[in-house]
Amino acid sequence: MARKKPEELRSHRWYGVQDLRSFGHRSRTKQMGFGAEDYAGKPVIGIVNTWSEMNPCHAHFRTRAEEVKRGVWQAGGFPVELPAMSLGEPFMKPTTMLYRNLLAMEVEELLRSNPIDGCVLLGGCDKTTPAMIMGAASMNIPTIFVPAGPMLRGHWHGNTLGSGSDVWKYWAEKKVGNIDDKAWGEMEDGIARSFGTCMTMGTAATMMSAVEALGMCLPGASAIPAADSAHPRMATASGRRIVEMVWEGQKPSDVMTREAIENAVTVTMSLAGSTNAIVHLIAMAGRVGVKLDLDRFDQISRRTPLLANLRPSGKYLMEDFFYAGGLPAMMARIADLLHVNVRTVSGETLGQTLKGAQVFNDDVILPRDKPLAAEGGLAVLRGNLCPNGAVIKHAAAEKRLLVHEGPAIAFEDYNDMAARLDDPNLPVTKDSVLVLKNAGPLGGPGFPEWGMLPLPKKILEQGVRDMVRISDGRMSGTSYGACVLHVAPEAAIGGPLAFVRTGDIIAIDVPKRTLTLKVSDEELARRRAAWKPKEVIYPRGYGQMFAKHVTQADQGCDFDFLEGAARVPEPEIH
Ligand code: FES
Repeated sequence: MARKKPEELRSHRWYGVQDLRSFGHRSRTKQMGFGAEDYAGKPVIGIVNTWSEMNPCHAHFRTRAEEVKRGVWQAGGFPVELPAMSLGEPFMKPTTMLYRNLLAMEVEELLRSNPIDGCVLLGGCDKTTPAMIMGAASMNIPTIFVPAGPMLRGHWHGNTLGSGSDVWKYWAEKKVGNIDDKAWGEMEDGIARSFGTCMTMGTAATMMSAVEALGMCLPGASAIPAADSAHPRMATASGRRIVEMVWEGQKPSDVMTREAIENAVTVTMSLAGSTNAIVHLIAMAGRVGVKLDLDRFDQISRRTPLLANLRPSGKYLMEDFFYAGGLPAMMARIADLLHVNVRTVSGETLGQTLKGAQVFNDDVILPRDKPLAAEGGLAVLRGNLCPNGAVIKHAAAEKRLLVHEGPAIAFEDYNDMAARLDDPNLPVTKDSVLVLKNAGPLGGPGFPEWGMLPLPKKILEQGVRDMVRISDGRMSGTSYGACVLHVAPEAAIGGPLAFVRTGDIIAIDVPKRTLTLKVSDEELARRRAAWKPKEVIYPRGYGQMFAKHVTQADQGCDFDFLEGAARVPEPEIH
C-alpha cells in the first residue's frame, strides 16, 4: 500500500491550509495547550470513549483512553478524545437495543464533523460494540476497536459465579425456597468483582470475539480480562497501530469483507455465542454493503463444531478462556473453516496472526474430535409461525425439548405475562409452550430481552427448569433454555405470532429447523381479519424516529436510511 503524505491527511483541510478557518482551528488547538509540534502534519486520532458512571463495564475507560493516547504519541500521531453515549446494559430502560442505532449515528457524525484521520473505538458492553463498528464502517476511515474485556470471575461459597447465567439459575432456586435472603445477598456481593464486561459467553463476549474474528481489533485482544495488565498494554499497542493504519490508508471496507464477516459468523457458532449476534452481524454487514441472510447463519452453524466450553452452554468463564489461549487458539482449531487470507487491522493476514497459537487447556477449548456439540450453538427455524425466521440457542437448551409439541399459553404482552404467570389457575403444564407477543423491535418497543420467559412457580415446584418458550423478543446472551426468539415478522405488525391463542398446538423440531402453529390457514385468516395493530408508543423524539425506520429482526434492526455502503459526504469547511 502506498503511504499517505501529510498533505493527504483528512485533517489537512482543517489544519494544513492557510485561510481564515484554519487560523481558528490552529489557534483553538493552541488554546488547549498544544503547539504545532504536537499536531502539525500528524494523523489526528479520535479516541471515541463510551466511559460513563452509568456503565460499570466501561469503568476503566478513562485510564484506557490515556493508555491509547500513549501509543498514539509514541507512533507520531495526535490523539484527541471524543466522549460518546454509553449504553450501560444494566441500567438503560426499556433496553439498550433501542439506542444501538443512535450510538452508531453519533459515532458516524462525530468522526465526520471533526478533523479525524483515524479512530480508536472503546466499547464492549453489549450494544456498544456493534453500534461503534456500524458508525465507523459507514464513515470508513481507518478504525481499530479496543474491547473492554471481561470482568474477573464471580465467587460465592467456593463456587464460581457467571454474569447473568447464574443469576437466572439461582433466582429460580430462590423462588422455590432453596436459597435464602442471606445467601442471595452474598451472591450480590460476589458476582461482579471488577470493571469489565459480563464474563460468560453473553452478548458482550460474543460481540468482542466476533469483532476480533472480523479483524477489527488486535489479535488476542477480545478475551484479555479488563483487570489484567495485558489490557492497558493492548490499548497502547492499538494506539500505535492506528497511526500506521492512517499512513497505510487501511479502512474498515478493506477489512470487513464478506469473507471476514463469515469468519465472524463461524466464530460465533463455535463459541455458541449470543443470539443477539445474529441481529448485530446482519446490521454491521449491511453498513459495508454485504447482505447476510439468516439461512447463511444456519448453513455455517451446521458445519461448525462447538468448541468453547463456556457458560451458559458449557462450564467455564472468559477468564479461563483467556488462560486457555483465547480466541486465536480457538480459531487455530477451526482454521480450515475460516477464510485465513483476509487482512486484519494488525496489517497481517488472519492466517499469519494464528501461527503459533496454542491451546493450553483442552477442557476449556475442546479438541475437534471432542466438541461440546458437533454443530454450532445457534439454529434458524422456519415455518408458518415465523415466515421470515426465528432463532434458538439450542446448545443452551434441555435436549428433550428440541423436538416437542404442546399447547400454547399465550400472553399478549409483558404486563399480561407478569400478571398471570404465577396464577394457580393458569392451565400450564411442563409440556405447555409459553408464547409472549409484542416484544419485537416495534412491539417492545426497542426489541427488549424478555425472550427467556420465567417459568411459572408451579412448574418450578415440580423440579422442572426448562420449557419451550416463543417470542418476538430477544434474550440476554447470558440466558439459556429452549427459547425461540426474534420471531419475524413480529406480532406488532401482524406477524402470525399475533394470532396465537391459548390451547393452539405448536410443534418445534430443531433438527429439521421447523416451527409450526397447527392451526388451519382459514382459521388464521379469520383471526387476522379481526386483528387490530398495536398503538405507536412514542408520540415524539428519537423513539418516533426509531418506530418509523427500524427494520425487522431478520434484517438487523438498523434504520432503513443508514443501511448500505454509500459514501458519507465530507462536511464543507467554509
Ligand atoms: Fe455490560 Fe453485560 S452488563 S456486558
